[in-house]
Amino acid sequence: MMEAAGPDLARRFRDEFGRPHELRVRAPGRVNLIGEHTDYNDGFVLPSAIDRAITILASMRSDGRIAAVSVDFSQRTEFETVDQSKDDDAPWSNYLRGVVAQFRKRGLDVPGMNLLVAGDVPIGAGLSSSAALEVATAETIRRLGGHPIGKTDMALLCQAAEREFVGVQCGIMDQFVSTLAEEGSALFLDCRDLTYSHVPLRFDARIVVCDSRVRRTLAGSAYNRRRAECEEAVRLLRAAGGGIAALRDVDPARLEEQRAHLPGPIDRRARHVVTENARVLRAVEFLKRNESGSFGDLLYRSHESLRNDYEVSCPELDLLVDLARRQPGTLGARMTGAGFGGCTVNLVRSGEIDRFRREVARAYMDGTGREPLIYVCVPSAGVSSEPVPP
Ligand code: GLA
Repeated sequence: MMEAAGPDLARRFRDEFGRPHELRVRAPGRVNLIGEHTDYNDGFVLPSAIDRAITILASMRSDGRIAAVSVDFSQRTEFETVDQSKDDDAPWSNYLRGVVAQFRKRGLDVPGMNLLVAGDVPIGAGLSSSAALEVATAETIRRLGGHPIGKTDMALLCQAAEREFVGVQCGIMDQFVSTLAEEGSALFLDCRDLTYSHVPLRFDARIVVCDSRVRRTLAGSAYNRRRAECEEAVRLLRAAGGGIAALRDVDPARLEEQRAHLPGPIDRRARHVVTENARVLRAVEFLKRNESGSFGDLLYRSHESLRNDYEVSCPELDLLVDLARRQPGTLGARMTGAGFGGCTVNLVRSGEIDRFRREVARAYMDGTGREPLIYVCVPSAGVSSEPVPP
């Protein structure tokens, strides 16, 4: 599923809509380096945007309708901008519809538009193709509608679209990084007050993503269940006298003292979140001091916690992490994203990438019969848009 080259997309737009596009928008997918399942606990995350993105080509229409064509799904759909319904025959269009509904909910007009949507973010792989689609849609509406909406608000609007329209009670990480990332950096975000900083990635190592090719359709409901378990942990800790608003307010030592108040598996869910937040803070320090070995160790520890305490890994992701660990150039590896399938993120010394790729692919293939997709990612900038001169 490769993004069609620029002139091809422009030609395709003209073929579909009988006129040239006026705006081109690009919103990236992301890989989370560390800080998994912490965002909806008011915690810390450290993702990077990647050099894979959703592209939208757009033009205005005067009839209050949106006509959208997905290149990747070879499908066309049309709806009124005031229409609030879903279309489960074209599920990709629900991300667009959800974003449109959120603009309208905030009293912001959505113009009629022709949209051509294409992308090279693998779908359902934990690299946030859906957030990229939401952010690209929001940026298109912002530009064509002339709305002075800020970037943080745009990320929040997209998160609301995913929660209300798509029904996954996601945190803010994916939409935020797809909107606000900076080239060459990771984004350190405090998900409580949305303060952030860009931390340059200066390691002599590359970020390598291994896609297990395992896709779990149940991931949405399991995700919502984990959220509920965290809320339950907060409720029980509060009842036990801890004046806390979220798991973010608990440190590892205090949790150990209070764990007796939590039944299984709630105690382990809480331990993951609390220790993961502590790992993110240390990871940022190691990144600033350019200590790639110590940073990498935290990735391994994060994976163990996600596997044993949060229970969102799967045998294929565990195998990919084990195989990566056996390679001499690997500094760290873990599952990334919501889990239950999808990808691992690996930090691999620059001179060892070819061997890593070859050895991990071969051994994973031997172990599972599946061929993993392995990409080196370039930390990239957040959403951008470019009007086409008339
Ligand atoms: C998904 C969600 C994010 C975050 C991760 C897990 O990607 O969209 O908000 O919760 O899972 O860290």
